Amino acid sequence: MAFTIAISGKGGTGKTTLAALIVRYITEELGKAVLAIDADPNATLHCALGVEAGGTISDIREDILENKLKLAQTGLSKERLIEYEIQECVRECGRFDMLTMGRPEGPGCYCYVNNLLRKYLGTLSRGFPFAVIDNEAGMEHLSRRTDNEVDVLLVVTEPTIVGANSALNIHRLTESLPITVRTKALLLNRVPAAGVHEEVNKRLQSNGLKVAGTVADDEEIMEFAVTGKSLLELSPTNKAYESVKMLMAKYIETN
Ligand SMILES: Nc1ncnc2c1ncn2[C@@H]1O[C@H](COP(=O)(O)OP(=O)(O)OP(=O)(O)O)[C@@H](O)[C@H]1O
Ligand SMILES: [Mg+2]
Repeated sequence: MAFTIAISGKGGTGKTTLAALIVRYITEELGKAVLAIDADPNATLHCALGVEAGGTISDIREDILENKLKLAQTGLSKERLIEYEIQECVRECGRFDMLTMGRPEGPGCYCYVNNLLRKYLGTLSRGFPFAVIDNEAGMEHLSRRTDNEVDVLLVVTEPTIVGANSALNIHRLTESLPITVRTKALLLNRVPAAGVHEEVNKRLQSNGLKVAGTVADDEEIMEFAVTGKSLLELSPTNKAYESVKMLMAKYIETN
């Protein structure tokens, strides 16, 4: 099974940015292959990684539901065809592969379809030592995820009072989700040069939350966002990236 790192948090806190930097850390520093999964319907991870988006799992799901897969023409069994379609969705990008989940489910009955997809997505991710999942904002959707085992759940928040409170909400929510989370880590992103404000630290403490790491508000990252450059090209000594490396070194098991 792939060692799975899922990134979650409120909107715009830096989930996609950090997911891209984690993919970079695993491929460049650890020299391991990664399945990068974009689980946000508004998919942007491919941009952060500087690759084209491929087909989406939601397209396959709808095709199965509407019986659009051309079984007779291919001569394949339904299961083999689904496996093939999923493989087709996977974009090979050198040191990592990219999979885009796509839109959420429509009003139809998806149990059968999701069971099939779960089976083949499981097989797919078992082929990688690591999987990094960039989630959509919020947490509720995590309970609907097709894989329900996460080794590290990284909760990203801003170093503000609102951020400290929303981190607590997310923390509580993860306790009630029907997914197995082995380790949870709270990350403060976009920390100003002056550091985390004392009031924010106090609020985090009174909320019973321990901060696993901080990432600076970084000018180079902002520049890259403006020009749409891949974060894989960020300077290797970039301070924010250094912080991501340090954090991940603590959480990733390398045997
Ligand atoms: N450490 C950082 N320093 C400077 N800018 C950052 C940092 N982290 C993220 N950003 C910028 O903040 C914006 C939001 O980041 P990002 O898209 O990664 O957030 P997100 O949580 O994935 O958002 P969404 O919820 O919309 O998916 C982007 O413009 C990104 O470049
Ligand atoms: Mg995002």
